[in-house]
Amino acid sequence: MIAPDEIKVTPPDTMPRTDADPFTRDWIAALPESDASLARLGDAVWLDKYDSIAVMRHEPVRKILPDWRQFTSTAKPFYDPFTLVPPILVVQDPPDHTIARDALMRFLSPAALAPYRAAFAADAERIVDAALAKGTVDAVTDIAAAFVLKVFPDMLGMPQEGRALILDFGDAAFNTVGPRNAIFEASMVRAGPAFEWVDHHTRRDTVTPGSLAARILGLSDEGIVTEEEAEFLIRATLAAGFDTTVLGIANIIGGLVRFPENWPLMRENPALVKNAVNEMLRYDVPARMQGRTALVDIEVEGIKFRRGDQISLLLTAAGRDERRWADPERFDVTRTGANVGFGGGIHICMGQVLARMESEVILEALVRKVAAIEPAGEGERFINNAAVGWKHLPVRLVAA
Ligand code: HEM
Repeated sequence: MIAPDEIKVTPPDTMPRTDADPFTRDWIAALPESDASLARLGDAVWLDKYDSIAVMRHEPVRKILPDWRQFTSTAKPFYDPFTLVPPILVVQDPPDHTIARDALMRFLSPAALAPYRAAFAADAERIVDAALAKGTVDAVTDIAAAFVLKVFPDMLGMPQEGRALILDFGDAAFNTVGPRNAIFEASMVRAGPAFEWVDHHTRRDTVTPGSLAARILGLSDEGIVTEEEAEFLIRATLAAGFDTTVLGIANIIGGLVRFPENWPLMRENPALVKNAVNEMLRYDVPARMQGRTALVDIEVEGIKFRRGDQISLLLTAAGRDERRWADPERFDVTRTGANVGFGGGIHICMGQVLARMESEVILEALVRKVAAIEPAGEGERFINNAAVGWKHLPVRLVAA
């Protein structure tokens, strides 16, 4: 743990400084390249406007992410414990973190999720058929959101009505990962109805009996977590699990449209679908950054941190690090090698099996049924402090 008065607010003399603001609309619209451009200043840089450090290189990001003994998650840049982000998991260290994680992980393991795959595949077929019937579609609303908002709330046992509000909830939650700027404020206003919906539909008397949400709440009957913590676990799932996956699926399609040489390879060898998901996690990662605070004076890959330094690990920039990746600006489904798009160590994304399954299933349906995916106009990037990708991405689908 670290006391608030121990947080460093003065720049160190060991790294470059910048007065750039990485949370303006223009900067965010140019992600991930804009974040990656900070690496021209140094491997890490002090952000004057936010009294914190941004780390841009793959190797130090990879090393710091799992190192909870020296880099805590209980304090991080911009984090305010009184916001709507459920105060569980991402803002905990062991032992509290371990209890919450083990409890929720029961429902998100490969074995727990395997039975849902067939239903996901049937929904994917229907959604791809409907998109093909239209011909020109928005890859975000007509494919990615249509799919994720069908399969995941069905799995949780959430009602049909109002489920799209979960995306506004996630949008607001991801904005709290950054500064309290106009983007944050606007999303909080927009998410008013979403807060009410989420609050209402995560309680014992409203969740569908026997559903996944009901089983998560049941953890409190076994005394594993409290009733309040069980509600937080459902809300954490809603906050972390929707926008990310919608963005992720659309970001894959964005990469495929921009680099069309990949699609024939995937049609020829559908096993490359898995690689396409990995490549998205490097090339256009939906989770922009993870925060940590240094608990000790420590040097990592030549970067000197002081106890109390608040650090943003930029997954966006790490994915474009030319020291780690050959030709990093190219989306290439034949690329191999581990990236940090799902984080690493004890906080590694708990929904990664689910996110991969959703992404793979919808891509598999596309690969089977679509001969070509072409751009059909200018896309529009999603403006959020910490969630990265497309808000709209018009594409034309050619039937196979
Ligand atoms: C492409 C989609 C996704 C991406 C890119 C992503 C990314 C991440 C990353 C980078 C972390 C690490 C946080 C840290 O180190 O502090 C994380 C944690 C987490 N993710 Fe995901 N995520 C995705 C989908 C999901 C889904 C579908 C769920 C829902 C089941 C989910 C639930 C969580 C939870 C609960 C945590 C906290 C884990 C912990 O602190 O132990 N994520 N995610």
